[in-house]
Amino acid sequence: MPQQASRAIAPAQGKLGVMLVGLGAVSTTFIAGVENVRRGSAQPIGSLSQLATIRLGKRTDKRAPKIKDFVPLADLQDLVFAAWDPIPDDAYTAARKAGVLEPQHLEPIADFLKGIRPLPAAFDQNYVKRLQGTNVKRAKTKRELAEQLREDIRRFKQTAGVDRVVIVWCASTEVFITPGPAHQTLTAFEKAMEQNDPAIAPSMLYAWAALMENVPFANGAPNLCVDIPALMKLAEDRQVAIGGKDFKTGQTMMKTVLAPAFKARMLGLAGWYSTNILGNRDGEVLDDPESFKTKEESKLGVLEYILQPESYPELYGNVFHKVRINYYPPRGDNKEGWDNIDIFGWLGYPMQIKVDFLCRDSILAAPIVLDLALFFDLAQRAGLAGVQEWLSFYFKSPQTAPGLYPEHDLFIQQTKLKNTLRWLMGEEQITHLGVEYYEYGAH
Ligand SMILES: NC(=O)c1ccc[n+]([C@@H]2O[C@H](COP(=O)([O-])OP(=O)(O)OC[C@H]3O[C@@H](n4cnc5c(N)ncnc54)[C@H](O)[C@@H]3O)[C@@H](O)[C@H]2O)c1
Repeated sequence: MPQQASRAIAPAQGKLGVMLVGLGAVSTTFIAGVENVRRGSAQPIGSLSQLATIRLGKRTDKRAPKIKDFVPLADLQDLVFAAWDPIPDDAYTAARKAGVLEPQHLEPIADFLKGIRPLPAAFDQNYVKRLQGTNVKRAKTKRELAEQLREDIRRFKQTAGVDRVVIVWCASTEVFITPGPAHQTLTAFEKAMEQNDPAIAPSMLYAWAALMENVPFANGAPNLCVDIPALMKLAEDRQVAIGGKDFKTGQTMMKTVLAPAFKARMLGLAGWYSTNILGNRDGEVLDDPESFKTKEESKLGVLEYILQPESYPELYGNVFHKVRINYYPPRGDNKEGWDNIDIFGWLGYPMQIKVDFLCRDSILAAPIVLDLALFFDLAQRAGLAGVQEWLSFYFKSPQTAPGLYPEHDLFIQQTKLKNTLRWLMGEEQITHLGVEYYEYGAH
């Protein structure tokens, strides 16, 4: 039986437009994957929204529906896609160039993919040094560019006949920017857009445009983007769901599994050296030191928060943490991430762990894009405005309310996600206390 009133959630009626900023490896792998799943030729592996179950009530109740049968999510058949990209390739050509999916997943849906042509992007090479784009918007000011993006959203809604839209940033990582005066208030932000202030990156224009159109916005890259006070306030004022940053896929996902295990067992950490080789366009962009700096900050943060060196100086007070990304074209999207972890145990005796993850970046990221699109749409229909911290599960540097430290432990994040779904639907929270199953718990 529900323990509390469930939250009013508008039904997932009609079509959901998924607008992607960037039509590169991640976006095309996501779109082609969804289309294959819709046609019954593949499984949505890696997607919680499609495959995971959620336990409700007591263990003895044996209630564990699939998440998609428990909360009112948009159906995959109702998704319609659009994208912006400065490179004019349609989704088929972009997917072929990205080289992630094999012909068996692209050729049968070639016509569908060719029908997705990128809208001209709000792009500025100063923010992504290694790219050149021809399919770009022109305007005198950044504000005008952002207004053109708003127009794109409105037109897509009309022409594609979609009832709701969500936007996911799947575009390149921009150069490192620290929050400054232009990011503090909406007035300062809008004035800075009008004055073409360099503090306003293209990703911020998309975020602003989304919010002004009441469209939820999720940021899959580590750029500041929507993680600035001006846009967080705008999201709250306009009651729109936002979140980020940086999809948590390969090496960092492993880090946020292993580090909590060391801490749980009170094992010490002397150093963690992480290195990667990858050869896709993302790797090429990250070969630029300024874009890499943005990524580095995002990847480095997790250990500090998980290990809490201030509480455990004898275990984590002197950790050497290094992250490198090396562009190595022969590997394409099939990244290799190595971790050398120096831990120590009882009486300080050293031990080592080596992780060699031969992963596929976009294969890990695509289901995250799907889940984010569906859960952000759910959040919006449930009236959850502002930062969606319950979706931290999907991000390397989760956005939080001001003053809150982010939660990085993958399993705490998973609990938070599932408990939020229970809360939305008026179901009891699961604490894992479990005394009710024993004699002593009955009193
Ligand atoms: N794949 C993963 O595991 C993973 C994990 C975390 C984050 N990410 C991030 O996701 C993003 C996409 O990764 P990818 O492998 O698809 O990269 P990609 O280079 O294949 O695609 C990115 C696309 O964005 C386009 N783009 C750049 N600036 C743009 C702008 N202003 N507007 C519209 N489009 C723009 C580029 O032309 C390119 O086609 C990157 O920022 C990457 O760091 C990926």
